[in-house]
Amino acid sequence: MQQDIAEVIAIEKSATAFPWSEKNFEDSLKSGHHAWVYFDDLDEIIGFALVQKVVDEMHLLNICVKPREQGQGLGRAILDHVINFANSISAVLIVLEVRRSNQRAQQLYLQSGFNEMSVRKDYYPTEVGREDAVLMGLDLGLVSLFSDK
Ligand SMILES: CC(C)(COP(=O)(O)OP(=O)(O)OC[C@H]1O[C@@H](n2cnc3c(N)ncnc32)[C@H](O)[C@@H]1OP(=O)(O)O)[C@@H](O)C(=O)NCCC(=O)NCCS
Repeated sequence: MQQDIAEVIAIEKSATAFPWSEKNFEDSLKSGHHAWVYFDDLDEIIGFALVQKVVDEMHLLNICVKPREQGQGLGRAILDHVINFANSISAVLIVLEVRRSNQRAQQLYLQSGFNEMSVRKDYYPTEVGREDAVLMGLDLGLVSLFSDK
C-alpha cells in the first residue's frame, strides 16, 4: 500500500472532515497493521481499509470509499472482506470507533452484525467542539457458533 499512499490520502481528505494525516498512515503501516486498497476497472483506487490485530481482537482503524463511488455497495464489500480476514486469522472480536454523527457508517456496521458496546465521551474533535465515539463490536465467536447450527 506504501506506493498508493498519496492517492489514499486524497480519498481520505475528500471523504472525511477530519482526515488522517500522511504521518498517521505511515505510522500505521510501519506498525505492521494490515491494509488493503481497492481498485476500479481503470486501476484507480476507490477505497481502502486498515486494521490492527491485538491478541485475538481486530480493530478496524479506517475504512473509506471515494465519495463518487459511495452508495453502490463498495463499503459493504470492503467490510465483508475485513470480516472474512478476521475469521481467517481466528480473531474473536472486531471492534471500531465511529462518530456519533456518522449514521451512514453506523447503519453499515449494524447491518453487518455489529452492536453498540459503549460510548467514548467527547472522543472526536468537531468544527464546534467535541463529539462522542460509539464503540461497536462484532463477536465472531458468536457468529460462528450460530452459523455452525
Ligand atoms: C461509511 C462508508 C465506508 C460506506 O461506504 P459505501 O460504499 O457508501 O456503503 P455501501 O454502498 O456499501 O452501503 C452500505 C450501507 O451503508 C448505509 N448507507 C449507505 N449510504 C447511505 C446513506 N446515504 N445514508 C444512510 N446510510 C447509508 C446503508 O446501511 C447501506 O446499506 P443498504 O444499501 O443495504 O441500505 C462511506 O460512506 C465512507 O467512506 N464514508 C467516509 C469515511 C467514513 O465515514 N468511514 C467510517 C469511519 S468509522
